[in-house]
Amino acid sequence: IGAEIGDHAHFLIKEIEEQPRSIERTLSGRLDERFSTAHLGGLNLTVREAREFKRVKILGCGSACYAGDLGAQLIEDLARVPASSESASEFRYRNPVVEPDSLYVAVSQSGETSDTLAAVQEIQRKGGKVIGVINVVGSTIARQVDGGIYLHAGAEMSVAATKSFTSTVAAFALLALHLGRIRDLSPTEGARILAGLAKLPAQITEILDAERDTGAIEAVAKEIATRDSVLFIGRRRGFPVAREGAQKLKEISYVHAEGYASAELKHGPLALVSPELPTVAVVPDDDLLDKNTSTLAEIRARRGPIYAVAHRELAAELADRTIVIPANEPELDPILMSVPLQLLAYHAAVALDRDVDRPRNLAKSVTVE
Ligand code: G6P
Repeated sequence: IGAEIGDHAHFLIKEIEEQPRSIERTLSGRLDERFSTAHLGGLNLTVREAREFKRVKILGCGSACYAGDLGAQLIEDLARVPASSESASEFRYRNPVVEPDSLYVAVSQSGETSDTLAAVQEIQRKGGKVIGVINVVGSTIARQVDGGIYLHAGAEMSVAATKSFTSTVAAFALLALHLGRIRDLSPTEGARILAGLAKLPAQITEILDAERDTGAIEAVAKEIATRDSVLFIGRRRGFPVAREGAQKLKEISYVHAEGYASAELKHGPLALVSPELPTVAVVPDDDLLDKNTSTLAEIRARRGPIYAVAHRELAAELADRTIVIPANEPELDPILMSVPLQLLAYHAAVALDRDVDRPRNLAKSVTVE
């Protein structure tokens, strides 16, 4: 969890493998089984404020923004408050409408990203309340916001976000649970989410162990490393997972990748599908399974190779390979489904002999415009 590389070849793989512990640390002391809620000491929101705001607006850059998309879905699902996420840079370059009955959330691993900081300052200038979801304690954004949640994920040295991504989503699950339990969520539902959260570290260990035994993800990565471009697709919660998976691959392996909403395929990207364009599909075993498998059939009909991340082996007509991962509560699946996609990007970057921890042209935190 510290800043030493130890026996690892790269910080990136060290940080991927740290996720059982980093998630545990994000959850530590915050699961309140007695009242089926989450205890978040630093939020600085009165119960009245937490009950009365009408919508949530989440802001961040890069992976923080994709984690924010998942946060918005968690808040809508569990707390039944309309929530959306947007890139902090786009937000700051508009003249945003800041409403007093909205709660704003700034997401940043480093707490130093200038676009995110500027968005926070703009909101505060116009009278909005901002809480932070931040990893680095005492960072600039952490000091600027009105309250928040620290990830406690430990130092993240590699430029590409990994453990901070999964910890951010876990922190949003805690926030959604906390807000839900003082608004609309039943104790039984709260207990269901709590039990799911508690299972995450062991399930991530299971994913990492399975890869050590089988090398299945590494094999797919070697395939993908030979291609010019890869499509990542998912629906609903699977969509931000797909976007983050594509982001990871392009950042560290320089293979072009695009994350697309499955249902949007037929509005454009399907034209690209051919035996040369592989698709990585996020296919959780949830109420959208049928829709997801029919998308795969459409890709298959155009002879596109398919690699799926799913909760059970998909039929050979649907996927060339399935990476099977354990299931949790559907709301928490994105945390688990992100891990194989991180490993995929890592192994592709290694296969291409890239500078995994310091990809060209990128910085860990962008503190200038
Ligand atoms: C940079 C990094 C990304 C990160 C983004 C936001 O672009 O390369 O990995 O997601 O900044 O960083 P933050 O520290 O604000 O989460």
